[in-house]
Parts: sequence; C-alpha cells; structure tokens
Amino acid sequence: MKPVHSAFPSTRMRRMRRDDFSRRLMREHRLSADDLIYPVFVLEGEQINQPVASMPGVSRVSLDNLLRVAEEAVALGVPALALFPVVEDAKKSLGAEEAYNPDGLVPRVVQALKARFPDLGIITDVALDPYTSHGQDGLIDDTGYVLNDETLEVLAKQALCHAQAGADVVAPSDMMDGRVARIRAELDVARQIYTRILAYSAKYASSFYGPFRDAVGSAGNLGKGNKYTYQMDPANSDEALREVALDISEGADMFMVKPGMPYLDIVRRVKSELQVPTYVYQVSGEYAMLKAAAANGWLNEKACALEALVAFKRAGADGILTYYALDAARWLKEDA
Ligand code: PBG
Repeated sequence: MKPVHSAFPSTRMRRMRRDDFSRRLMREHRLSADDLIYPVFVLEGEQINQPVASMPGVSRVSLDNLLRVAEEAVALGVPALALFPVVEDAKKSLGAEEAYNPDGLVPRVVQALKARFPDLGIITDVALDPYTSHGQDGLIDDTGYVLNDETLEVLAKQALCHAQAGADVVAPSDMMDGRVARIRAELDVARQIYTRILAYSAKYASSFYGPFRDAVGSAGNLGKGNKYTYQMDPANSDEALREVALDISEGADMFMVKPGMPYLDIVRRVKSELQVPTYVYQVSGEYAMLKAAAANGWLNEKACALEALVAFKRAGADGILTYYALDAARWLKEDA
C-alpha cells in the first residue's frame, strides 16, 4: 500500500452517510410488507382470544377473531398467513388421525379464510406435533423413536387434506427424510398441481421454540422429550445445504431456514450457493427476547425489530415469517 501523505483521508465513507437523501440512495436492502408472513394460532370456539403469556401481543384465537386478523393483514398488504392449530387433548392420539380429518379445524379455517379473502395466501403447517399425544412431529415406536417412513404416509394425507381445503402453500416442518417427494407425489396424483410446498429444509433442534410450544400446548405433551433425532444440530452448516438440495430435488418451491437471527450464516449460504426462494423464521424465542427487553425499557422495540427484519433481507432472505409481521407493516406505513 502507498503511504498516505495527505493529512486528509482520501476516501471519506461518512460523506454518503451525511444526509438522509444520500443514505437513501445507497441503501442496498429494504423491508416492505411484501416480505412478511404472519403466523397465527387458531383454536375451536367463538369469541376466543387467549393471550400467550410468553409472547406478548400474540393470542390464540377462534375463527371469528382470526377473520378480523386476516382483514388487517390484507389492509396492511401482508401477503400471507401461516396457520398453527391449537388442538384439544381429546383429539390427540398416537396415530395423529385428526391431522387429516377433512372436517377438522385446519381445513375449516382454510376454507373460511379463502372464501372471505381469496387473494390472501394461506400456508398450513404439515407436521404431527399438534395431533400426537406425545408432542413429537411423527409417529413413534415402543421406544419413543420417531418413525420416518410410517410418518410420511400420515404427512402426505395431511398435506392433501389441507390442499383440498384450499391451502395455497403446505409447509412440512417435520424434518422427516423424503417427505417433500412423498407429499408432492400425493398432491400430483390428486391433481393438486398448483399447491406450493414451503419446505422447512434447515430446521434446527432449537431451544428458541419454547414459547411456541407453550402457545400450541405441545410443551406439556413433549415433556422431557426432545427432537434431536430429526431436527438439525445447531453446530452444523454444510448439512443444511444438503437438506435444501434434497428438498429442491424432491420438488419443493420455497425453502425455510429456522430459527432466524442465530442462523443468518445459513440464510446467506442457502441463497448464495443454491439461489432458491429463501425464507427465514424469526421464531417465538427471538420475538420473546425482543418483547421482554422492550418491556423492561432496555431496547427500543420498533427500532430493534425493524433492524432484525432488514438484517434477514441483507442475509439473503426473500421473505420472513415473523410474529412482528403486522406491527412491522404498520410501522413501515407510518414511516412512509
Ligand atoms: C413444530 C413447529 C415448531 C415451531 C413451528 N412448528 C416447534 C417445534 O419444533 O417444536 C416453532 C416456531 C416458533 O418457535 O416460533 N412443527
């Protein structure tokens, strides 16, 4: 390098940062409502709104109230909702039969949402944990081990049931091997060829899911159990790329990395190395951390939440599943 003789810096990075107009002109990434997917918890009944203690601002709601939430999402320009059912214990079983009941909660909610808001994308979760008495995402053997191929048959029925109810996107979050191929075949045979598959390809065995398990009530069923035999080890990164590559070859359309903020390197690798539509899930624990710090006055909630969300975009995400979706869309509108 040439020695710098001038008493002045030859390049001043701060010049472009000096004014709002030039900061705006060189901004590389922008967050918009178009980037957001809003997860919602739905249960049976009417006029129910049960706040989730570990997720301030998030409630489990009955369909009538969910329709109001959907209306708000549409008004704010949020493209899609992701549905998570809260299933009563009496409907949980070893075989998870309720998962593919065409008259069950999820199909009825999907039908009602699509009838009222045909342009709002509806994403359903394909996994058995809301329906199993033990809270695992699949069927288990006598030792409690989660069975792969037996589970695939149930997941395929569940995905088809959601698609036939009108779900636009089915999102397998179970981490069984071969599930995307099995679901795609089931959908194709039934001529549900436009149903998108959002594969939770790189889903880690994360402790940041704690508040979600409270919200859907699977924490109690799972007890001291864990998901280490199917969800990924947080220490791994190459393995995530293999998972996404498999899901590409099996016919998925969209690819999820989950959780979000501790896994930005995975988001970046998936986007750079595989160039596929890449999504990230800012999970319940990430949301709870921001909420708790904000409630204590330790963080500025709006600023920190918007910073975390734009950081997902910078890392390479095309979309973000976040409990902040409606707030973020509102904040963006306010600031516009
Ligand atoms: C399970 C599922 C989980 C989440 C979404 N679907 C958790 C788990 O694996 O137990 C977590 C989402 C969150 O923490 O916000 N199919």
